[in-house]
Parts: sequence; C-alpha cells; structure tokens
Amino acid sequence: MKTIEWLGNRLKIIDQTKLPETTAFVELSNYHEVVTAIREMKVRGAPAIGVAAAYGIALGAQNIKAENKSEFVSQFDQILHAFSAARPTAANLFRTIDRMKTIATTTDDIPGVKQALIDEAKRIHAEEEAATERISRLGAELIEDGFTILTHCNAGSLATAGYGTALGVIKAAREQGKKLDVIATETRPLLQGARLTAWELMQENIATTLITDSMAGYFMSRGKINCVIVGADRIAASGDTANKIGTYTLAVLAAENGVPFYVAAPTSTIDLSLSSGEEIPIEERSPEEVTSIGGIRLAPRGVKAANPAFDVTPHYHITAIITEKGIVREPYVDRLKRLFNRQ
Ligand code: MRU
Repeated sequence: MKTIEWLGNRLKIIDQTKLPETTAFVELSNYHEVVTAIREMKVRGAPAIGVAAAYGIALGAQNIKAENKSEFVSQFDQILHAFSAARPTAANLFRTIDRMKTIATTTDDIPGVKQALIDEAKRIHAEEEAATERISRLGAELIEDGFTILTHCNAGSLATAGYGTALGVIKAAREQGKKLDVIATETRPLLQGARLTAWELMQENIATTLITDSMAGYFMSRGKINCVIVGADRIAASGDTANKIGTYTLAVLAAENGVPFYVAAPTSTIDLSLSSGEEIPIEERSPEEVTSIGGIRLAPRGVKAANPAFDVTPHYHITAIITEKGIVREPYVDRLKRLFNRQ
C-alpha cells in the first residue's frame, strides 16, 4: 500500500489518526494542509515526516507567484519556516528542509526551480524507500529463528513511507523463513503501538501480542524477550538516540536483563551537528493527549499533565544501530561519522 503518494499537483497520504478502524486517505492540495497533517500526526514517524515535508515544500513552491528570484526566495523561506515549526524532534524533517533549500538556490530560472524541487522530493522518497529495504535486510541477520522481539511505537511502512525500519527488520527476518513472535507495546499517550504496529503486523500475519507499556519489565525479567528493536527520530553524533517516549525505560530494562537493544534508522535520522542527546530538541505536546484517550477524558478536569513526546536513550544502552550503510556498534562517535563517507 502506498502510504504517501505524489499526484502531480497534490499529495495523497493515509490518515494515520483514523487507523486501524478506518483506512482513509486524504489529498492535500496546498502546503498549509501538509504542515497541519504533520502537526496533527495524520502523517507521522520521522522518515515519513521527511518525505511528506519534501512533497509539501515542492507543492508550496508550485503556488508561489513571484516576479523575480528574490521574491520567490522570500516566499519560499516562509514555507520552509512553516515546516520547521511543525515537529521539532524528527531529524528527517530538517534534513529535507536543508536539501530543498539547497535546490532552490541552484538556478534563477523560477519554473526550473519549481520542477527541480518536485524532482528532489521524489528523490528523497526513493532514497528513504531504498534505505528501509537495506536496513531491513541487514538487520534481519541479527534475528534468530524462534526469537521473541519487543518493539515500541510504530516504525513500519506507515512511519517510513517505505518498508519500515524496526518493523522492516522483523518483516525481512520473517521473509527469510524465521519463526518470530512480536510483543508490541501500546505506546501511550497516542497508542501508535496498539493502533498502528499491531495493525501492520497483523496484515503481515506475524504473531503479535499487545501489552501495555508498563508490562515490558515483567516480560523481560522472565526471559521472554530475545531482543528489543525500535526506530529513531534523531540520533546524535554520540549515538544517543531520541525515540518515542518510553524507549529509554525499555533500554534500561533491556540492560538490566541482558537483552540486546537495537535501533534501526536511516542515516537521514542521524544528526552529526549535535554532539550528544542532551542537545536534541524534545517536542512537548498537548496535555490533553495524556488526560484523554481517543477523545474521552479520563483524568479529573484541571489536573496538570506533562507530555514530552520523546526521550533519549544513551548510546551505552544501545547494542547496535542498524542503518542502510551498515550496522554500527560502540564506539559510535567515529563510526557514525564514517557512514557518511560510504556510498
Ligand atoms: O510521534 P511520532 O509517532 O511521529 O513518533 C515517531 C515514531 O514513530 C517513533 O518514535 C519511531 O520509533 C521512529 S520513526 C520510524
């Protein structure tokens, strides 16, 4: 299923907020709608956000009416600004913005720039698709027949506009004929695990057990989990990794119980400009996502609630980072940097 599709003059996406009950697609015909879709998490997951933003920026550029290149650039900058404010943690969003900005400076021919931006968006999409397939094939080698794998949040096709990262590894291992069981954490507050990961795995006929986030320690301490695999939203040069809130807790539990903890992510999620995880901006979302579930209020009216959307797992709790350019282990600092010199 194509979760993100460029239709020539608009962008079609699957609305992830409606899943699993309804498989609904929405067509976005201007860049404001794409920004809103990202902010409201109709499209979510760092690589998918990067791809949707690329098409959204290209779409915005098509509608610019400018007499000359400097007018074009000033309107284009407003579009970039709107996207950069949509979600602060996903590295792929900012990589996309940088790439699109570079393309816009290559020529003064406005129709030429507009076409080049569409071409670049398609390239970003194709690169992410290819990266997820490679990550999945490489990562599958770490998975043994009979493994029970715990995953958190959703790092499948929906989140990546491709084959998936953490879920891609699981799918590829299954395609190799390995028998697997997956434990999916529900991932409060927005339940990406319960709604999206369980749905994707069931579509693939992969044996899946859904647990609440608080049950992970129970299963790990009883030796029921062979490894944990998660995706990533931003990886600092040190290997410290921001991923969905609750990932850090899982990494500490994995370390305590001697369970390998893998991160699967494309190199577009690595941000070498940040030396450590402390510098990764963490999105704070509405407290209502915590006080309610599916629009139904559970907590007392007026209670204070916090909602950091991501946490940072320190590199020393990560057994390996699986990228499309290879599997990296400690010491991460030089090894992550060296990935960028590889084809
Ligand atoms: O807030 P989200 O749903 O956009 O969070 C991002 C994620 O899906 C996860 O953190 C995921 O593991 C990394 S993206 C493949």
